[in-house]
Amino acid sequence: MNSVDYLRLSLIDRCNFRCQYCMPEETAVQFLQRSELLQAQELLSLLKQVFIPVGFSRFRLTGGEPLLRPDLVEIVGEIAALPQVKDLSMTTNGFLLADRAAALYEAGLRRLNISLDSLNAETFGAIVGDRTQRRWQQVWAGIQAAYEVGFNPLKLNVVVIPGVNEAEILDLAALSIDRQWHIRFIEFMPIGNAELFGARGWVPSEEIRQQIRSRWGLEPGHVKGNGPADVFQIPGALGTLGFISQMSECFCDRCNRMRLSADGWLRPCLLNETGQLNLKTLLRAGEEMGVLRDRVRELLLLKPEINYKERESGTSSAVYGRTMSQIGG
Ligand code: GTP
Ligand code: 5AD
Ligand code: SF4
Repeated sequence: MNSVDYLRLSLIDRCNFRCQYCMPEETAVQFLQRSELLQAQELLSLLKQVFIPVGFSRFRLTGGEPLLRPDLVEIVGEIAALPQVKDLSMTTNGFLLADRAAALYEAGLRRLNISLDSLNAETFGAIVGDRTQRRWQQVWAGIQAAYEVGFNPLKLNVVVIPGVNEAEILDLAALSIDRQWHIRFIEFMPIGNAELFGARGWVPSEEIRQQIRSRWGLEPGHVKGNGPADVFQIPGALGTLGFISQMSECFCDRCNRMRLSADGWLRPCLLNETGQLNLKTLLRAGEEMGVLRDRVRELLLLKPEINYKERESGTSSAVYGRTMSQIGG
């Protein structure tokens, strides 16, 4: 059985983008109140007294958009300083990154995954819900700043949407040639925006690899990571190409993660709500840390079963009801 030692921590459910595949502008999303979010000290107590003692050692900060959390740099500093933490990373849309990249690096963050679905300001604007079309430039500046500060590996996430950014696959892949940038192509999942998924469908990773192979060739590659990406490389390139193929391949049997939502729900599976447990409620009710550790250990034992059950019966309906921003990416 896979060891589950990777926790994705959502710091906030809000986002300054409204990506079409996640929470499109047309859909009303109910955001959490500030008091409902886990406070920094609650989060740290849970890490120190629950997650680390039960065996978690790799952490990723997610959202919504984690840069919207005013205490982000402090949270990073405190987590990075814990001696048991082997890996700390963050997933962001990059919009507020240019000004904060240096402070995050100084606080101890070393790895960043940034969403970049298009190189074209107009297409990008259409995807992220930005009519001004000025946001691409600022995200690009954020990526450049992170690279200059020394974030390594620096990964760029591309959700491939048929007929929207599909034609840019080679241009995006080419970013990995001269820079140590790691481009990851993600198969569009039926989560968040079922209508768009229904209308557009998804592009299999193998089709994308085929395009890249015909242009440059493709060989196995390697980059540090905890995720389900299959990694390749254009021969001679400085960076790599990753493929996250949750639609064409089931990677549940190598699943190593759990998720903690911004309001304290611990979920054993992205696509399945079975077994989820609210740690914030237990913590605020004054439950002992030993009890919380036992509950998390029980969930760890159940995890492989939860994953397989749902995959066999197909993608659960729960997937359609929630966005990645609410679950924590
Ligand atoms: P690394 O540690 O850098 O490998 O990170 P990662 O790939 O785990 O993190 P990231 O936040 O960049 O995730 C990229 C995408 O992978 C997500 O947006 C999802 O589309 C997909 N993904 C990540 N985890 C899971 C998972 O457990 N199940 C499924 N189905 N997809 C996932
Ligand atoms: N399908 C695939 N990936 C998605 N993301 C958000 N919604 C979806 C979806 N429906 C991705 C974002 C980001 C990561 C945190 O989640 O692009 O890279
Ligand atoms: Fe793991 Fe569930 Fe994601 Fe499969 S779908 S990789 S089991 S979290």
